Amino acid sequence: MHSFHYRDGSLHCEEVDLSTLAERHGTPLYVYSAATLRDHYRRLKGAFSELDLHIAYAVKANSNLSVLRLLAAEGADFDIVSGGELFRVVKAGGDPGGCTFAGVGKTRSEIVYALQSGIYCFNVESEAELRFINELAREVGTPAHCAVRVNPNVDAGTHKYISTGKSENKFGVDFQNIQGLYDTAAAELPHVVMRGLQMHIGSQLTSAKPFIEAVEKVAPLAAELKAKHGIEFLSIGGGVGIVYRDSLASGDEAWWSKQSEGGEAPLTLEEYASALTPLLKPLGLRILLEPGRFIAGNAGVLVSRVLYKKHGSAKTFAIVDAGMGDLIRPALYQGHHDIVPVREAEAGAGAETVDVVGPICESGDFFAQDRDLPKLEQGDLIALMSAGAYGFVMASNYNSRPMPAEILVDGEEAKVARERQSYEDLVAGE
Ligand code: LLP
Repeated sequence: MHSFHYRDGSLHCEEVDLSTLAERHGTPLYVYSAATLRDHYRRLKGAFSELDLHIAYAVKANSNLSVLRLLAAEGADFDIVSGGELFRVVKAGGDPGGCTFAGVGKTRSEIVYALQSGIYCFNVESEAELRFINELAREVGTPAHCAVRVNPNVDAGTHKYISTGKSENKFGVDFQNIQGLYDTAAAELPHVVMRGLQMHIGSQLTSAKPFIEAVEKVAPLAAELKAKHGIEFLSIGGGVGIVYRDSLASGDEAWWSKQSEGGEAPLTLEEYASALTPLLKPLGLRILLEPGRFIAGNAGVLVSRVLYKKHGSAKTFAIVDAGMGDLIRPALYQGHHDIVPVREAEAGAGAETVDVVGPICESGDFFAQDRDLPKLEQGDLIALMSAGAYGFVMASNYNSRPMPAEILVDGEEAKVARERQSYEDLVAGE
């Protein structure tokens, strides 16, 4: 569900007209819906009501302080992958004691910072890292709580760049080496306390099957580690996919019930939770989820303006003022984002097959190719849907383009969650 709907012929985020925001703040412009963020957090929590469930929001998906503050107020914990993300969580008023720290390449300064901040757990990805954390915990004089990330060698069936649970991926420790590593920790590493076990098989999963396969494999291991080493939690990672197509219609509850009656059904929370709960409940462990995209993805759009139309011999281009530097998912993962006009197309108005492209000097700088869209004119506003996760956070200044502003809408209120960068910002520090 999300809160982007047409009202009086114009696309709104909750009660706020996107065209008004574009006038006031310029484009390109990220706009997030607070109601949607809260709704997704609460739905996920509610779906697993039978478990001792903790949601560690994956900060990487959208790390704006206003978003983190909102989720902290909901009671979320946080999954971080860098010292910078820990800094953001603390700045936003989140509890470092609820942070899990993932990633294959944690540095000395990041580990020390996390130890000094008293994070909940390091999710460790190699024996070398575990030994290094032990060493730093000795130096800092505080025990390091750790979990090992197990690589269950399961195919997540998602894009190869966001698939993480196969043996050939760089992530985690091979399943067959896990027990040995916990034994080593107990025997040789006095400054680490093994607190849990973690897995994450990939992102944007659109079927429950790989999750089930992985949890069926990992749950018995977690039970053994609980018995032998007293671990208290199992994290099953993030990865729940969202709807990228039909994204306007999917804002309505009715769309989902229609989907579940047949047709191309996306992964629903009910499906995910009802398949996993019976596997997880008997463990008697605290269960952690690390959702990023599920919480933030459909909660944001990128608003952009058509600068020019160009009719070439092979194609028609709509050249817009957002580019791959603002939203890189299409260029990097062939990611699909629905594109809708902010002013609702009138019934019977013409359609056109266009490439929607950005201003950056790269042929990969496109948002859509050969897409049938309502006819766009110079000056029209469009919304790139489902851009709330892995949108702004992956933005860059390539071509010396200032990063867009971010707006958080809550009901009738719209506040600047991050100012648009200036030219001075571009050269600060050089
Ligand atoms: N936990 C770990 C250890 C992760 O590596 C990730 C995502 C998550 C949780 C959150 O996954 P989610 O629930 O958001 O699927 N930039 C890519 C996605 C990269 C995901 C990286 N890891 C994209 O735009 O599709």
